[in-house]
Amino acid sequence: MPELIEPHVRVRASFLEAVEELVADGRAYDGSMIGRWISLYGDRWADEAGFADFVGYLQADATPHAPRPTTHVPQSTWWLVEGDTYLGRISCRHLLTEWLAEFGGHVGYEVRPSARRQGHATTMLRAVLPHVHALGIDPALLTCDDDNVASRKVIEAAGGVFEDQRGVKLRFWVPTR
Ligand SMILES: CC(C)(COP(=O)(O)OP(=O)(O)OC[C@H]1O[C@@H](n2cnc3c(N)ncnc32)[C@H](O)[C@@H]1OP(=O)(O)O)[C@@H](O)C(=O)NCCC(=O)NCCS
Repeated sequence: MPELIEPHVRVRASFLEAVEELVADGRAYDGSMIGRWISLYGDRWADEAGFADFVGYLQADATPHAPRPTTHVPQSTWWLVEGDTYLGRISCRHLLTEWLAEFGGHVGYEVRPSARRQGHATTMLRAVLPHVHALGIDPALLTCDDDNVASRKVIEAAGGVFEDQRGVKLRFWVPTR
């Protein structure tokens, strides 16, 4: 059974395979989460110590005073895994900047390409909502591109209520209780 966990060194090998899939899928562009992780740790996460540093960075990123770009806010990240197999990640920004309130939202996620269309994103979003609630967020803002049918379904399956469209972004409020 897939489970949502805090990032952990035990899934290193599988995580690195997933990164290769995401790069091949074009998800590692500048400004994407995976692109940022690669730029920070991609040159050293193949070895155990480098990967442990990466996991430590993700844990610290959930705290208010960790070093981060001035436009970024604290963010918690969880991984969906089955045993030691990495399936996907979901992240929650603790606060909304002006940009996040319009386009980015609180919660972002992706499933590794080889594990898509098996219900994992739906599972992952449902499973993260109590954690989001524990951060004091209710409802949570989620956005997706207007042509991202899969993500829209994931958001609606979690009870997302459509508010409006800004540019290509559809904005939904998802109750977290
Ligand atoms: C969007 C994404 C997270 C969906 O992950 P997933 O694990 O494949 O999603 P699920 O299996 O839970 O599927 C959810 C629904 O979308 C449908 N779906 C999944 N992929 C689809 C696709 N490519 N085209 C059309 N529908 C799709 C599923 O059939 C399911 O529909 P249902 O609820 O009617 O059964 C995944 O495609 C992904 O990581 N994409 C790239 C990153 C991204 O877009 N992240 C979201 C940013 S807002």
